[in-house]
Amino acid sequence: MAQYSDVVMEHFTNPRNVGEIEDADGVGEVGNPVCGDMMTFYIKVDDDGRLSDVKFKTFGCGAAIAVSSMVSEMAKGKTIEEALKITRDDVAQELGGLPANKMHCSNLGADALHKAIEDYLEKKGKK
Ligand code: FES
Repeated sequence: MAQYSDVVMEHFTNPRNVGEIEDADGVGEVGNPVCGDMMTFYIKVDDDGRLSDVKFKTFGCGAAIAVSSMVSEMAKGKTIEEALKITRDDVAQELGGLPANKMHCSNLGADALHKAIEDYLEKKGKK
């Protein structure tokens, strides 16, 4: 436990934006091949192309939950372009770092968010 930063522990204990958006504009689901954990991100995009709402459901370890919570906070209010620039490293950094054996957990967050955005862009293109 001691190897987790206070920020990780805080987000794990009190995760932000947990849940599902029923009429989401985009949904992105990824699985972690290392451990089999799953993460799903839901986004709402407003007329200005900003992420007005971001929610997630994570079936995973504590680090994965903290990562999802942090990604949702980082992405909310950002434009699509800005949100696409959020990297795995940014997330780990914002969390005050992750133990080396937990870095793979941080990959899920940015990937799931980007997938939700791609889903939105794809749907929009088809409209
Ligand atoms: Fe599975 Fe962390 S152990 S995401």
